[in-house]
Amino acid sequence: MMSDADSLLSADRLCFCVQKLDLGRNNLVMELANKTAFITGGASGLGLATARNFVAAGANVFLYDLNAEALAESASEFGDNVKWQAGDVADEAAVKSAVASAVNNFGTIHINVNSAGIGGAARTVGKNGPMPLEKFEHIVRVNLIGTFNVLRLCAEVMQANEPQTEDQERGVIINVASIAAFDGQTGQAGYAASKGGIVAMTLPIARDLAKRGVRIMTIAPGVFETPLLAGAPDEVKEPLIAITQFPKRLGRPDEFAVEVAHIVNCSYLNGEVIRLDAGIRMPAI
Ligand SMILES: NC(=O)c1ccc[n+]([C@@H]2O[C@H](COP(=O)([O-])OP(=O)(O)OC[C@H]3O[C@@H](n4cnc5c(N)ncnc54)[C@H](O)[C@@H]3O)[C@@H](O)[C@H]2O)c1
Repeated sequence: MMSDADSLLSADRLCFCVQKLDLGRNNLVMELANKTAFITGGASGLGLATARNFVAAGANVFLYDLNAEALAESASEFGDNVKWQAGDVADEAAVKSAVASAVNNFGTIHINVNSAGIGGAARTVGKNGPMPLEKFEHIVRVNLIGTFNVLRLCAEVMQANEPQTEDQERGVIINVASIAAFDGQTGQAGYAASKGGIVAMTLPIARDLAKRGVRIMTIAPGVFETPLLAGAPDEVKEPLIAITQFPKRLGRPDEFAVEVAHIVNCSYLNGEVIRLDAGIRMPAI
């Protein structure tokens, strides 16, 4: 059984192997070392696992999250190459201030990972009437509008970067959708709409940013063992595990982090969505 530290080292080895290929020799690989990443939702779960892997690979990281307490606690495990600021992804002024702080601390931003997100199940019409419109709006505001708000401000910084590869690549954005964008379950209209929006905007943003040397990819995770599910009882986890194909288990945040690193490294990935889900397809309920 590998420890978390071991598996992070494996992610490092993955990047190292890429650099031994012609890609590395020809400077076609967007390397993590000495890059700066702006990670939302960085206090927890998939965002925090990504931050750990980036730091292990020699990147600077700026963490942005609504939960100031969790953020301070998570950031305390790192050294000077990690800075943080609390705020809402959907708050334009707060994100502008955080992006400026990242640039002040580290000089620029090369990578933006948008992992901040919320759930919020409610049926379109339930026992107590229609789903409150403000609930639907809130989910879309955080997950979709918040993601766009952050990525547009990070992309503005990235476009001014010195080219980082032979292709003149200046930056990469990685958004986090969900398999609910494709297999939304009962009660997931708001969540699926917000994540479906992230999927749908991936290609047009790739087209918008192509001339600026900035790529964008979206990961649609299946069911991962983040704090939300880690403490859940077996009767919640087992039916989910039963409908994965292989491997028969929940996803590990480290595996998400490895996929993020791979997207950063592999410059030919652009404008597409990757399901990271062990072949799961969600049923109606
Ligand atoms: N864990 C899974 O199984 C799973 C599956 C599919 C998609 N996702 C998506 O992955 C992303 C990360 O999920 P996770 O499991 O790591 O969850 P998590 O709850 O562990 O982390 C999400 C973080 O986002 C932060 N956040 C929430 N609202 C915010 C806001 N308005 N502004 C800034 N930060 C905010 C939270 O404080 C939290 O730290 C989410 O977008 C989620 O929808 C997760």
